[in-house]
Amino acid sequence: MTTRQLQAIARSKGTPVVIVDHDGIRKNYAEFKKHLPRVQAYYAVKANAEPAIVRTLYKAGASFDVASLPEFMLVYQNIKRLSPKRQQDFIWDKIIYANPTKAKATLCTLDQYKPLVTYDNLAELQKIKQYAPHAGVVLRLRVPNTGSMVELSSKFGCDPGEAADLVKAAFDMGLVAEGLSFHVGSQCTNFQNFVQAMDIAAAVMRESGSRGHELKILDIGGGFPAPYNKHVKPFSALAKKINAEIDRLFPKDIQILAEPGRFLVATAATSIATIIGKAVRDGKPCYYIDDSVYHTFSGIIFDHCQYHLKAFKKGRTEICAVFGQTCDALDTISLSEELPGLEIEDLVYSENIGAYSSASATWFNGFPPAKVVHVNQ
Ligand SMILES: Cc1ncc(COP(=O)(O)O)c(C=O)c1O
Repeated sequence: MTTRQLQAIARSKGTPVVIVDHDGIRKNYAEFKKHLPRVQAYYAVKANAEPAIVRTLYKAGASFDVASLPEFMLVYQNIKRLSPKRQQDFIWDKIIYANPTKAKATLCTLDQYKPLVTYDNLAELQKIKQYAPHAGVVLRLRVPNTGSMVELSSKFGCDPGEAADLVKAAFDMGLVAEGLSFHVGSQCTNFQNFVQAMDIAAAVMRESGSRGHELKILDIGGGFPAPYNKHVKPFSALAKKINAEIDRLFPKDIQILAEPGRFLVATAATSIATIIGKAVRDGKPCYYIDDSVYHTFSGIIFDHCQYHLKAFKKGRTEICAVFGQTCDALDTISLSEELPGLEIEDLVYSENIGAYSSASATWFNGFPPAKVVHVNQ
């Protein structure tokens, strides 16, 4: 979107505002499909659970990774008018419940939909057997998350050494073990993580196969990096590596899934805020905006992602600090931004803020989350 269009929206809708461009979402989805033609893309709804985003990706033909019952129902809204048979086919073919730990009540509710769910330990498997025996199961492996912006391997994934036993345990219980999954960590710019993970998964599949347990699915998770800065290598380079490993390590008939979240939505949104206060502290200009790390910029805290601010105003720039609207000093958006001299009521914007941003916004201090405006739906 042009800066003129962004300013026009800010003027008509007010700030703080997050503008989601659905052309951007469709473009990212098309790029994913183009470079990874063998991979079925399950949008990780957690990255941005705006119903309109789920709708756009549904219409584009995407599948979905959900991590809670409300996320499941969000996707379900799109298929509830289909016949029961087509609903069931969609759930089986196009939804994975990829949160390895599920409460008993969640499993009881999920069971009627017979979804694919992940597990990474025996206790979880027993729970699935007891409360959702009609679910298909996928074993999540622990794989290296080296250098990824958000590391997940300390919390999720079984040790590769115990994987074949956990696959066997599923078969022994009479569950249908469909395959393996992993996650290399979010915003993974170290492509070797994918290479190593696929090697690990291939070895587990070979071992399970040799014990008579053939697995049909490989789920390569999320982690596909958004181009937040010029150091992120192009997606096509990562896809080339992944395609080569798929061809080298796995049989032709294996079904390959992925759970991209950030990659599909990060670049599709821009936030705009208004300068509501200014000060000079220790000689440094400081600006206070009507958004915060408890709101659209929550990714700074939860996602370890640094967002940069730009001004619509031109002029000589200087290093400054930008703080959020709340009464907390943690609410520091940046201690080092380069902005021109700004006045109260001037607007600033931040690009590439579609993933893990409004998704984790709170109502802290009584300030509501920024409004969301959808364009090019
Ligand atoms: C199980 C699972 N799948 C997919 C994702 C999406 O990852 P990303 O946004 O890095 O693509 C996450 C993110 O935490 C996850 O936990």
